[in-house]
Amino acid sequence: MRIDILTLFPEFFQAPLGVSMLSRAQGKGAVAFRVINIRDYTEGRHQVADDRPFGGGPGMVMKLEPLVKAIRAGRAEDPQVRVILLSPLGTVFNQDKARELAEREHLLLICGHYEGVDDRIRFYIDEELSIGDYILTGGEIPALAVADAVTRLLPGVLGGEGAAEEESFQTGLLEYPHYTRPRVFGGLEVPQILLEGDHARIAKWRREQALKRTLARRPDLLAQAPLTEEDKKFLQQLAEKPVEE
Ligand SMILES: C[S@@+](CC[C@H](N)C(=O)[O-])C[C@H]1O[C@@H](n2cnc3c(N)ncnc32)[C@H](O)[C@@H]1O
Repeated sequence: MRIDILTLFPEFFQAPLGVSMLSRAQGKGAVAFRVINIRDYTEGRHQVADDRPFGGGPGMVMKLEPLVKAIRAGRAEDPQVRVILLSPLGTVFNQDKARELAEREHLLLICGHYEGVDDRIRFYIDEELSIGDYILTGGEIPALAVADAVTRLLPGVLGGEGAAEEESFQTGLLEYPHYTRPRVFGGLEVPQILLEGDHARIAKWRREQALKRTLARRPDLLAQAPLTEEDKKFLQQLAEKPVEE
């Protein structure tokens, strides 16, 4: 997959793309990033990419011309590219969307800044994504959030680091709890079942813990989660006594 990122602050991406999973994914050839400076598409010596808002008001607005030029260049290179503006007005990004985007070959993520982008950008993009109901200074962190969530789903990326299939949201549930050594810390013990090596019982316990946590913390997820008859029975039992973790 190729992920292009259009930004006014290319240096923002150096460290995040250069470490951990995102760096390894590039090394394995699963993803290639290209960070593009929006100012490369501006005209004039001052490389102006923003201007005052029509109608007055505080702050500056990102100009259309450089962004549209960059989008056109991206579409000319690859008509299949999915052009996404990171914006608090967008659909809220989630694991289903990450899975959907991971099926694509090429994303172009646009990072807004200042008060945002001239609204007419809507006519040049494919979709708008928000990473949640709060305002960040720019689209760089949201673009990284999307790039990270999508890249870790690409074939071969996670390897031994943990199966993406079992993670929270991927199963429709929150994930079961994890423990590592020491077995006892400050009087807190690791659940005995995890120490006994019975993999079938461990799998059952983990499934039940995931159901229990989801019921306690995010009951809204249960309505959409694919549940077996056994899951439903377990949830029914839980409903009869209060859920504690
Ligand atoms: C300071 S914000 C602009 C906020 C805008 N004035 C508003 O009230 O909706 C600047 C840029 O950061 C990005 N941004 C901020 N919060 C975001 C969020 N929750 N999700 C996605 N992008 C976000 C967008 O690219 C946005 O254009």
